[in-house]
Amino acid sequence: MVNLNEVKVLYSEEMIQQRIREIGEQITKDYEGKELVLVGLLKGAAYFMVDLSKQIRLPVTLEFMTVSSYQNTESTGKVKIVQDLDSPISGKNVLIVEDIIDTGRTLHEIKQLFEIRGAKSVSICALLDKKAMRLVDVPVDYVGFDVEDRFMLGYGLDYNQYYRNLPYIGYVDSIK
Ligand code: IMP
Ligand code: MG
Repeated sequence: MVNLNEVKVLYSEEMIQQRIREIGEQITKDYEGKELVLVGLLKGAAYFMVDLSKQIRLPVTLEFMTVSSYQNTESTGKVKIVQDLDSPISGKNVLIVEDIIDTGRTLHEIKQLFEIRGAKSVSICALLDKKAMRLVDVPVDYVGFDVEDRFMLGYGLDYNQYYRNLPYIGYVDSIK
């Protein structure tokens, strides 16, 4: 477990919500006159998905998918679909909503999968972007914050499944 006194807060609740309002506005402009399917990757993106969807002024539907790629803090490099979508996305404008992009493997694979399934367009929105860690080149259309290579937790991001419910985003030096 982590001693919460050790957590260094990077983004407060207010900063997160302010940034989400800005991204929501941008998405609303970019998709003007269109419908959008938001696909949130569980469990990390759950908090971001809910808050972001409220800032998009368009007809949207919400879908969730569970993929796993991480064991503890080390990427295993394999993306597994644990729970797939329950609605077809062919012909739809899809926006994948993710908590953080690290190596890029997860989003690269899921984007490819949605393209194969015949989505009209597939874009990516990640709350955090660890650019320095990228192994697979994948375009991220909307980014909340660029972060350094530190293990982040809170606001959906977990450490061994805990700390998702912290209202802020932070890191602890003891986890790498
Ligand atoms: P990627 O496939 O390497 O881009 O991995 C992305 C996934 O790894 C995210 O959906 C997170 O679940 C997890 N992840 C990557 N970095 C962190 C972190 O700093 N904190 C918590 N989870 C992370
Ligand atoms: Mg995740």
